[in-house]
Amino acid sequence: SQCCVDPLSAMEQEAEIVQELGSLHGVPLYKSFIEGWPRVKAFQARPDDVLISTYPKSGTTWLSEIMDMIYHDGDVEKCRRDAIYNRVPFLELKAPGEMSGIEQLESTPSPRLVKTHLPVQLLPTSFWEKDCKIIYMARNPKDVAISYYYFHRMAKIHQDPGTKAEFLENFMAGKVPYGSWYDHVRGWWEKKQEKQLLYLFYEDMKKDPRQEVQKILQFLGKELAEGIVDRILHHTSFQEMKKNPAANYETMLPILMDHSVSPFLRKGVSGDWKNHFTVAQNERFDQHYQKLMAGSDLHFQMEV
Ligand code: A3P
Repeated sequence: SQCCVDPLSAMEQEAEIVQELGSLHGVPLYKSFIEGWPRVKAFQARPDDVLISTYPKSGTTWLSEIMDMIYHDGDVEKCRRDAIYNRVPFLELKAPGEMSGIEQLESTPSPRLVKTHLPVQLLPTSFWEKDCKIIYMARNPKDVAISYYYFHRMAKIHQDPGTKAEFLENFMAGKVPYGSWYDHVRGWWEKKQEKQLLYLFYEDMKKDPRQEVQKILQFLGKELAEGIVDRILHHTSFQEMKKNPAANYETMLPILMDHSVSPFLRKGVSGDWKNHFTVAQNERFDQHYQKLMAGSDLHFQMEV
């Protein structure tokens, strides 16, 4: 008798990959992630889990690679053992036909590194109860918006983002996956007052990666020899990560990510927004930014 798998047409497969956005407690999120939410909410963190938290496109993969290198004392070969999305499981990931982040984490031995993009109010409470260490990385919103636009085009989970101008409007209005960037960075910033949370900036990491890696080491209570730090900095540079299949996402199924549209490691600089924003868009964005960030002592460098 014949084998049983019903081959889906390319169109049907694609239709399964694109995710509409639903609302998770008011935060726009992929529908499949929302379906997986009950298990995420009940997730049991372990006290030695370290959480890497970001708004999308803020340097998550970069920070993840740095953390895995730190955890393996700068052993490059160990950090090539698997793709970054398996080495640092994505907590709330749930897509049809794929292993969920929760399942991945359950089969990951301690000490685990965990990635999330959840806004602070939605983080499973277990992370707070277990007093896990958390590293948050933020990036200036203009570069995030541009990076997110290209990501929408290359990562096929997303619906068509429309024109850059349209996407920018949606970004400012928080009508994108994970919602308002402004709420996200401010929410996590405020948490820093009371919790074990290291708040980093992409722009600082660009400017002085050695200093930022030292901050991380201090936060983790770990010491590494100068030569090992050198190796970490070299291995996690944009150029090295871009050509590293374990870090550049090129091992993802082409039906999920199309690097010919835009590579995952696209430019890796601060200030690329200047090549994309019109003068009028920039003025509008600045005004909106002032309004939404008013009263906060959180400040961003728009370029370095
Ligand atoms: P660009 O699209 O501006 O190039 P995330 O990992 O959160 O999805 O963020 C992706 C962004 O981080 C992309 O930004 C990517 O190029 C950048 N990035 C990844 N690794 C980097 C590195 N080693 N140095 C600088 N930027 C990096």
